[in-house]
Amino acid sequence: MAIPETLKKKAEEILFRYPEDRRRSGLIPLLFEVQRELGWITPEAESWVVETLGVTDVNVREVITFYSMMRAEPSGKYLIQFCQNISCCLTGGEEIQKHVEHKLGIHPGETTKDGLFTLKCVECLGGCSWGPMMLINEDQYFQLTVEKLDRIIHGLKAGEPVPADNPTPLLGNVAGEKV
Ligand code: FES
Repeated sequence: MAIPETLKKKAEEILFRYPEDRRRSGLIPLLFEVQRELGWITPEAESWVVETLGVTDVNVREVITFYSMMRAEPSGKYLIQFCQNISCCLTGGEEIQKHVEHKLGIHPGETTKDGLFTLKCVECLGGCSWGPMMLINEDQYFQLTVEKLDRIIHGLKAGEPVPADNPTPLLGNVAGEKV
């Protein structure tokens, strides 16, 4: 598959931010653009990133396989990533995860028949104080409950996404003061 012109233009914008001899610093932003544009990092796109940045295949592969937010294989329109680490488990994450599996009729690693949702379980997503939490594509959702999860799924199906959670006001709560 040919690399879309829009993606090439985005690459120019990203690489413009870095000195000529530091182009590899644009690797992660460029990979994010690739998956936003193509849905996942295809083998062709991976080769194009190698060529564009002047890095090695291994440089790119190690980043793609290390970070769980990188989509190394095709997935649904909405990639739901559930944190399965300790803080989220202690605040009810397992119950929420079971609920979403039941609601969508899929298990982790699977995609719904309509191609809308893929479910994945990952390690800590960095929002341990506000668990249970999940990512949907790049949006964070904190302090999940069954009701909140139902609202989020319904919103996506209806094309009216529930806005992602902003951690800043929560930081104020943790510190005991409003921010
Ligand atoms: S344990 Fe769930 S975000 Fe850290």
